[in-house]
Formats: sequence, C-alpha cells, structure tokens
Amino acid sequence: MAILSIPEKNRTLHDPREIRSFLEERNLFFDQWSCAVVFEDSATQEEILAAYTKDLKPFMDEGGYQTADVISINQGTENYGAIRAKFLSEHTHSEDEIRFFVDGQGLFWFNLETEPVFNLLCEKGDLISVPAGTKHWFDAGETNPFVKAIRIFIDSSGWVPDYTHSKLEEKFADFKVKR
Ligand code: LAC
Ligand code: NI
Repeated sequence: MAILSIPEKNRTLHDPREIRSFLEERNLFFDQWSCAVVFEDSATQEEILAAYTKDLKPFMDEGGYQTADVISINQGTENYGAIRAKFLSEHTHSEDEIRFFVDGQGLFWFNLETEPVFNLLCEKGDLISVPAGTKHWFDAGETNPFVKAIRIFIDSSGWVPDYTHSKLEEKFADFKVKR
C-alpha cells in the first residue's frame, strides 16, 4: 500500500484516497489494481501481463500506450549498484513513465519545483504515472532490492533518462519512510 511523504514538512499520508487526490491535483495519476493470482518467482512476463489484462488493456487503450513489459530486480540482480545509480539521479523523460508494482517496493521522488520535494512509496498493487518532463528519481534501496513492475510505454525509445545533474537526491539520501 502506497505511502506519500513530504520530508521537509514532516508530513505523511497513508490514506489511498488522500494520496490519490494529492497526486491528481499535481497531474500525477495514481491507481491501485488488484489481482488474485500469486506469482511464483519463475512467473514469466507473459503470465504476469496476462493476469492483469482486465486493468491493463483499458488503461493502455485509453492512454494510447503501445507496449508493456515486466522488470524484475532482486537480490540476485547483477550490477545492482550501477542500475540503482542510473535511477537515483534526478531526471526527466520525453514520455510518461508508468509503473505498476506487481510485487516488491520502491520509492519515487518528485521535484515539481514550485513546492517541497515529495515521495511515494510504491508497493504491490500501486500504479503511478509520471508525466513527461517531470523531474523525478527512484530508489529500490541500497540492499536487498525487490521490484517486480509492469512498465507501460507509448514508445520505449522515449524512456531515456535526461539527467538534470542537480544532485538534489543527495539531500534526501538518509530519508526513511514512516510506516
Ligand atoms: C525510470 C525510473 C525508475 O526512469 O525513474 O525507470
Ligand atoms: Ni524515470
């Protein structure tokens, strides 16, 4: 279940409805999808995508999204340090970044520039859509990462990070989510 935090205001939202309206007021789309299937570690991308068809298909049709895939990061992921570093620097993309968390967790950080930085802990069942051009970064943790997420694209070539080099993420390196 998602948790939204605004570290500089010492504010934390736990209620999904409050989180959703906070994000929607800022043009970030948030939703929660459920699915009765429990996936084995060996579940394939096709099995995972198929299990979410009822939510995925209408969402993709409505948004004009063309492709979806599944990324998996876990303890066994090679070069996790390098992968983490790639997402951990503030960046933008020229297309929307959409992630649905099938399992695991990760922290999305947003810098809208007109207000304090906030973050969203995404967990199983949470969907977040980050509009093109929004400054953000992502962290699945320094150790024991676990993310199984569906990525939805219009054109995956638009999803190349354009780094801001602000180093803003360093200011929040010690942040811990208040459960
Ligand atoms: C990305 C995220 C994680 O660009 O921000 O994939
Ligand atoms: Ni990104």
